[in-house]
Amino acid sequence: MTRRVESDTAKSSWRQVKVPVFGVAVLLLVGFVPIAAAVPFEVKDKTSITCILADLSINFTVPYSKASKTELATFVLPSNAVADVNKSSCGDVNNTVPVLAIQFGSGHSLNITFGRTNTKYQVAELVMSYNLSDKILFPDASENGTKTVSTNNTAVSAENGTVYKCINPHLIRMDNVSATFHDIQLEAYLKQGNFSQKVSTCSEDVTPTSAPTPAPTPTHAPAPPSDPPVVQYVVNGSSGPCLLAKVGLQMNVTYITKDGKNGTYVFNIDSKGVAVDGNCTNTTASLFLSSGSVHLTFNFTLNNSLDVFYLDGVSLNTDLPADANDTRSFHAENSSLNYMQTNAHKSFKCNSKQPLQITSNFTVNTYNLQVQAFNIDGTKFATPVECSLDENGMLVPIVVGAALAGLVLIVLIAYLIGRKRSHAGYQTI
Ligand SMILES: *[C@@H]1O[C@H](CO)[C@@H](O)[C@H](O)[C@H]1NC(C)=O
Ligand SMILES: *[C@@H]1O[C@H](CO)[C@@H](O)[C@H](O)[C@H]1NC(C)=O
Ligand SMILES: *[C@@H]1O[C@H](CO)[C@@H](O)[C@H](O)[C@H]1NC(C)=O
Ligand SMILES: *[C@@H]1O[C@H](CO)[C@@H](O)[C@H](O)[C@H]1NC(C)=O
Ligand SMILES: *[C@@H]1O[C@H](CO)[C@@H](O)[C@H](O)[C@H]1NC(C)=O
Ligand SMILES: *[C@@H]1O[C@H](CO)[C@@H](O)[C@H](O)[C@H]1NC(C)=O
Ligand SMILES: *[C@@H]1O[C@H](CO)[C@@H](O)[C@H](O)[C@H]1NC(C)=O
Ligand SMILES: *[C@@H]1O[C@H](CO)[C@@H](O)[C@H](O)[C@H]1NC(C)=O
Ligand SMILES: *[C@@H]1O[C@H](CO)[C@@H](O)[C@H](O)[C@H]1NC(C)=O
Ligand SMILES: *[C@@H]1O[C@H](CO)[C@@H](O)[C@H](O)[C@H]1NC(C)=O
Ligand SMILES: *[C@@H]1O[C@H](CO)[C@@H](O)[C@H](O)[C@H]1NC(C)=O
Repeated sequence: MTRRVESDTAKSSWRQVKVPVFGVAVLLLVGFVPIAAAVPFEVKDKTSITCILADLSINFTVPYSKASKTELATFVLPSNAVADVNKSSCGDVNNTVPVLAIQFGSGHSLNITFGRTNTKYQVAELVMSYNLSDKILFPDASENGTKTVSTNNTAVSAENGTVYKCINPHLIRMDNVSATFHDIQLEAYLKQGNFSQKVSTCSEDVTPTSAPTPAPTPTHAPAPPSDPPVVQYVVNGSSGPCLLAKVGLQMNVTYITKDGKNGTYVFNIDSKGVAVDGNCTNTTASLFLSSGSVHLTFNFTLNNSLDVFYLDGVSLNTDLPADANDTRSFHAENSSLNYMQTNAHKSFKCNSKQPLQITSNFTVNTYNLQVQAFNIDGTKFATPVECSLDENGMLVPIVVGAALAGLVLIVLIAYLIGRKRSHAGYQTI
């Protein structure tokens, strides 16, 4: 339900939002291209006719408790994952729907349930069960047994008689579990027992960012990068966009190195290879960004009685550079912030670098920011409220401008006085 476009200026980028329509048409003509390195699955009915085909690559991030702390398990769908013949189904006329039930590892499963309307079919529900007793995926977990998470908000849908394809990462959240689908093709309700020739391309692939770039994995603390690229994010709610943001994002994490020094790990959120997701309720709007081991959440809240919205929650998961003493994944989170408070029906703008302290060891720097949550009219930002950093930045030009104006005035007055005097002088002669 989210879109992302690269942008330099608000005007041109909003036009870009509409581009995908053409992208779909072009990509539909490309047709069948096999996807390498994905795990293949097939579901057949009782008469051995294939009804579901899928080639899947999925990266999972699962939080679990370890010694009263939260650890992140990150793993991919293994190549020996199989379709469970007993739980998978083609559905039948009596209202049962097709299901691809995948089993992998030590008692883990992912059930993909399909549904359809007149012109489209979609993944209606995604259910994952994971076995915390699996000490390979969840080392030293303080719980054992199986947990189950699910979502009905997958944003995976395709036209009748087409194969759904998505090369770029497509993030699906099931409660606190992230599943990033990439390099996938899948089709249900097959007619000829094989993938259709026609393709429905996911929105991640039709935006200008088409080539997936691998997530940067830090090997050593890199030099601080340049200013981050400005990217535009749109989160759609039940009645149109509920969160608009145009921003360059830079993360600043401090950590202890192996030799006991303070290290800083500064990295930019790129526009390529980043899965964008989000959701809204009447009073909350969330944006989720995900790329490799990096998972970032921004939560906005609407306070109806004060008639304002503000950024109230930010969380970050990332791997630290190799010189970090603590080799575990870095996690920082704060859910009681009050940043960028803005009148509802207005947007917040801050062109200056704006450091937002999230925890003692984590800061988010925003660049060229404009954001609006809730009460969005169409896809345009409302009147901006400028941040004080920008106003201070404006102070120098204002002072210089005022001084120049004063100088001009003084020169003008001096000239007029001089003219009057010399005029008077002539009169006396
Ligand atoms: C993640 O969510 C599941 C289901 O809601 C819950 O049982 C589990 O305790 C959560 N895990 C963590 C680490 O919060
Ligand atoms: C969970 O993992 C443990 C350890 O590998 C295994 O003994 C157990 O059978 C698994 N549970 C299920 C339901 O498969
Ligand atoms: C899509 O599938 C449904 C269900 O079989 C069918 O009724 C409908 O005609 C199909 N639409 C198109 C455009 O093929
Ligand atoms: C999700 O969809 C399934 C059926 O596909 C339904 O049984 C379930 O109640 C739905 N859950 C939510 C939270 O809407
Ligand atoms: C399905 O399509 C692929 C690609 O066109 C082809 O290689 C394969 O042989 C087909 N399979 C069947 C059973 O027709
Ligand atoms: C990152 O944070 C550290 C410590 O707060 C600070 O000294 C440094 O200037 C910050 N770097 C950037 C690029 O914001
Ligand atoms: C590095 O971590 C180890 C194990 O947690 C700890 O014993 C050691 O004191 C740490 N070293 C530094 C320099 O913090
Ligand atoms: C590291 O940072 C902490 C907290 O900011 C500070 O107290 C400490 O003195 C710093 N250590 C070094 C070696 O700079
Ligand atoms: C959200 O807003 C809609 C429209 O204003 C309203 O119908 C609905 O009851 C609200 N839901 C909640 C949970 O407040
Ligand atoms: C998925 O995980 C693999 C292996 O860790 C990694 O190479 C790849 O970049 C990840 N892809 C995404 C989209 O997160
Ligand atoms: C963001 O909001 C979601 C949903 O309301 C919540 O589960 C999550 O804990 C929040 N995260 C932060 C960092 O506030």
